[in-house]
Amino acid sequence: MKILVTGGAGFIGSAFVRTTLALDPASRIVNLDKLTYAGNLENLSLVEGNPQQRDRYRFVKGDICDASLLEKLLDEEQPDAIVHFAAESHVDRSIHAPTPVFDTNLRGTFTLLEAIRARPVKRFVHISTDEVYGSLPAPAEADEQYPLRTSSPYSAAKAGSDLLALSYFTTYKLPVLVTRASNNYGPYHFPEKLIPLMITNAFDNVPLPVYGDGRQIRDWLYVEDHCAGIRAVLNQGREGEIYNIGGNRSLENIEVVRRILEGAGRPESLIKYVTDRPGHDVRYAITSEKLERETGWAPLMSFEQGLEKTIQWYRDNQAWVARVKSGAYMQFYELNYSSRT
Ligand code: NAD
Ligand code: TYD
Repeated sequence: MKILVTGGAGFIGSAFVRTTLALDPASRIVNLDKLTYAGNLENLSLVEGNPQQRDRYRFVKGDICDASLLEKLLDEEQPDAIVHFAAESHVDRSIHAPTPVFDTNLRGTFTLLEAIRARPVKRFVHISTDEVYGSLPAPAEADEQYPLRTSSPYSAAKAGSDLLALSYFTTYKLPVLVTRASNNYGPYHFPEKLIPLMITNAFDNVPLPVYGDGRQIRDWLYVEDHCAGIRAVLNQGREGEIYNIGGNRSLENIEVVRRILEGAGRPESLIKYVTDRPGHDVRYAITSEKLERETGWAPLMSFEQGLEKTIQWYRDNQAWVARVKSGAYMQFYELNYSSRT
């Protein structure tokens, strides 16, 4: 299968590229990525350096909002499927500066859908998030029919793009499938998100900024389990359907932070409670029973093992971290954290 991946230089997209090329020797991937602050070709150096993989891989730098580029690329490559990861993916950034979120997540998805309306593919998998269900009271778990109740510009734009994608199935019969995953973690994660930010701050012996009381709950999914779930949807999912992909592992943020400090060998005195995120969703929880029942997929990595592997990866890849954390990263860090502390 030839797959056009959007956003394949980011955290989850690059894991999908690496694992798909490694697991399926018949696969070929074209990666379209704008290389925003979150896109990093170093995440794909293992592919570029692998003689069994590099001939089945092509990188194209470009924007999913560029309709003529999409037309040209679809004509040239004629992919069987598109897996659409490209997005502005961080809630805090979406609060400080919503414009890029609406440009990429909504207009970009719309531009892509219009492109495949003219140049059909066999599958279009739209990658979304459990954040579209908003904050749930315990012990509720959202299934795919749960109402959408978004809180941040990020989640609102993702929910909008989900509905847009599904409307192209209903109206134009395009082969759209939507996945909604819980919080991912693992190697190559940009250190603006909770787990990599806390790991890298712990190694640097600088404060770990916990929003509010730290009692918010997220469900944690190891990124390779997420990629396996996406492949299950791509190969076995039903068109026009939504599939939740969860890790079955709900934890309070403060518990995650304590485990990171323990794993990194740093003291709990590094924890610093800071002003809460505006509109902060207290609890996310989903069930992926539908995906498990229809495809046999299940998350394989325990949180304990996944966190240990992730901490070890950051320990072993400090040059990657140093490059990612230089320059513009520190400007965002200042903007997001200076007024909080
Ligand atoms: P990321 O921020 O690490 O990567 C996003 C990638 O998209 C980057 O490589 C960036 O350069 C690229 N990109 C951004 N705008 C683009 C544009 N206009 N055109 C082309 N490329 C563009 O994000 P991620 O964490 O890997 O998330 C990938 C997808 O998964 C997103 O759609 C996100 O909403 C979804 N998701 C993320 C999580 C999570 O925990 N990170 C959970 C569920 C769903
Ligand atoms: P994040 O990784 O931004 O993912 P999301 O908000 O999309 O779930 O945040 C995960 C949780 O961690 C969320 O409840 C906010 C919290 N958090 C902090 O307490 N401190 C931080 O510095 C960050 C980035 C997040």
